[in-house]
Amino acid sequence: MKLMTARRRSRDRRCEVDRIVEEDNQMDNSGRVPAENFQHQPVMLDEVLESLSDIPEGAILDATVGGAGHAAALMAAHPDSNLIGIDRDPDALAAAAGRLSAFGDRVALHHSEFGDLGLVLDEAGNRQISAFLFDLGVSSPQLDRVERGFSYRHAGPLDMRMDQTRGRTASEVVNSYRAADLASVLYRNSDERYARRIAEAIVAARPITDTAELAEVVSSAIPAPARRSGGHPAKRTFQAIRIEVNSELEQLAIGLDAAIKRLRPGGRGVVISYHSGEDRLVKVRFDRAVTGGCTCPPRLPCGCGAVPEAVALRRRALRPGETEVESNPRASSARLRILERA
Ligand SMILES: C[S@@+](CC[C@H](N)C(=O)[O-])C[C@H]1O[C@@H](n2cnc3c(N)ncnc32)[C@H](O)[C@@H]1O
Repeated sequence: MKLMTARRRSRDRRCEVDRIVEEDNQMDNSGRVPAENFQHQPVMLDEVLESLSDIPEGAILDATVGGAGHAAALMAAHPDSNLIGIDRDPDALAAAAGRLSAFGDRVALHHSEFGDLGLVLDEAGNRQISAFLFDLGVSSPQLDRVERGFSYRHAGPLDMRMDQTRGRTASEVVNSYRAADLASVLYRNSDERYARRIAEAIVAARPITDTAELAEVVSSAIPAPARRSGGHPAKRTFQAIRIEVNSELEQLAIGLDAAIKRLRPGGRGVVISYHSGEDRLVKVRFDRAVTGGCTCPPRLPCGCGAVPEAVALRRRALRPGETEVESNPRASSARLRILERA
């Protein structure tokens, strides 16, 4: 009984936090979220600042600048460094530009994506960087604005693109993928147990026209007992489709490799991920940089000539503290990994 009450209280508080953030993130008549309304609470900010406290002077790359919560704090903490901020979402970049204006020409922002990270650094004249940060996933304004089509709570267009200027939409994935391909997207990106049932239900219900309809189709495809636990039943499906629409894992693999290569000796890289697929990929990429791709049996001296690029500063991922999760439920799934260039 005690547990039930505590759970209910925590759920009510979560709804309240979501409501406040949703109200703060509403757009103006131009269809944009005004910079002052772009509310996103940076996750594990203290841990990011601490992890990047001891870095060489030079350029800091924020590959997911978003509303610039992390970026502004990093600029304040490193007065001799400059920032290269990247985001694929023009709304986020507009908000970041407003928030970072106080740092003048120490900041350069680029509308780009992880896949083009090497190109952006070359064009900015930065062969090497002192640090990088990837704070993955979507920002609160992206999730909360019904028009972006990420939310399973309201009826919005099936869009889900982080960059609405290009690329395929969620509608194309939902209404044109074969059932087997849809099921594999759901399983691969979200470990969805009922991937096949959901995929078949989606195909049978076509055409699906908005996010509320998709959420309904998904929920009814999941057996009733499973619907009662683990949050909204459509949450994993929405996450999986979003990852597919934005090619998130492919982008991350390219971006991470490029960023690690550009780190100067002693430079550090931090990645915050929010689901197991992302974290697995980060761990594999970091491990490969640390071992240099060595394939020799463990506990034997390396005979394959692999050259490590980096050292791991912690073996395990850092998790947010209880206080942070209480005040920002979106931090609850965060995992932070850090590496240092050898
Ligand atoms: C969680 S938010 C970052 C929030 C930011 N750290 C802050 O403090 O406000 C993630 C951001 O990364 C961007 N993003 C995600 N994947 C990207 C990619 N492949 N290339 C560029 N930007 C990306 C999203 O558009 C979003 O604005």
